[in-house]
Amino acid sequence: MMKVTWRSPANLALIKYWGKKENQFPINPSLSFPLLNCLTQTSVEALEKATGDFDLKCYLNNELHLEFTQKIKKYFQIIAEIEPRIKNYHYKVMTQNSFPHGAGIASSASGYSALAGCLGSLFQQSDIKTLSHWARLGSGSACRSFYDEFSIWGESAMNPSWRDEHASSYPMERVHPLFQKMHNLIFLVDTHEKKVSSSEGHALMQSSHFKEARIIQAQLNLKKILSSLEIGDWESFQRIVEEEALTLHGLMLAHEKGYSLTNDKTWGVIHFIRELQKNKKNQICFTLDAGPNVHVLFPQNQSSLKAILHSFAEENKISCIESGWGTGARQL
Ligand code: PMV
Repeated sequence: MMKVTWRSPANLALIKYWGKKENQFPINPSLSFPLLNCLTQTSVEALEKATGDFDLKCYLNNELHLEFTQKIKKYFQIIAEIEPRIKNYHYKVMTQNSFPHGAGIASSASGYSALAGCLGSLFQQSDIKTLSHWARLGSGSACRSFYDEFSIWGESAMNPSWRDEHASSYPMERVHPLFQKMHNLIFLVDTHEKKVSSSEGHALMQSSHFKEARIIQAQLNLKKILSSLEIGDWESFQRIVEEEALTLHGLMLAHEKGYSLTNDKTWGVIHFIRELQKNKKNQICFTLDAGPNVHVLFPQNQSSLKAILHSFAEENKISCIESGWGTGARQL
């Protein structure tokens, strides 16, 4: 019997991946950093099997989870097309998250990157780009959870080494100290399972009137944000990050089969951030993933904002996760 364990972070996209091509390739490049305190820890036990097809059982928080068992079995089958030895074992997968599953905090990113890491360790594959590729086949954004630095995933004319197959790390030397230790408070305005999955959202992009415009916008925003990161320009960083979040939700809303994943509390937090931004000394901004929870970002030198945000959360009965810049996926 072999047993391996990986711990992997969720990642927060500043330039959003939204819409995919064949093979889980993104229609546009994205940029993210690994999140602190938003982790999945996964252990995989592999038992050599005598005959027949491989079997797998998945336990979430020590309880057998039938939906995950199905999903992960399918995922192992996909990776087995690249690494056929996977089919020679039976598996027990034990996983736990440090944050609510399905609440718009990308548990699929931390989950699939941890799983890909485990498969890599079981089958002697340690190249990060390969692990990132394997993780991508489970959930696109998962490929960005392997690096300690900013991650870039998706092709761009700016750099031929940025690929659709896997994410790449972006050198910290090119990032101004202002952005090197980002703080992030996640306002959990709703922790229920979201009503429309990211997969359905990605699929709608195929028939979005704004698809081509979105691709151009993301390419341009990536270029602009990298220059903001380099020179330490908070104002332009804030504009781009918020534009990306609002575009993501705008694209969902404006589609003929559209829907909203936000609620009144989401907008309440955003309006509060807008108020704080009226004082130009407050370097603070928000972003959203495909869910109602609001990620509030501010640099290390603004840590006094934390108390203000916490008292807003308390008054409005919103619980928060204190997060920030974490580290990439690791084997334990
Ligand atoms: O990896 P997926 O299929 O769960 O898609 C994630 C999409 C967003 O979180 C909304 C954006 C992103 O780039 O992470």
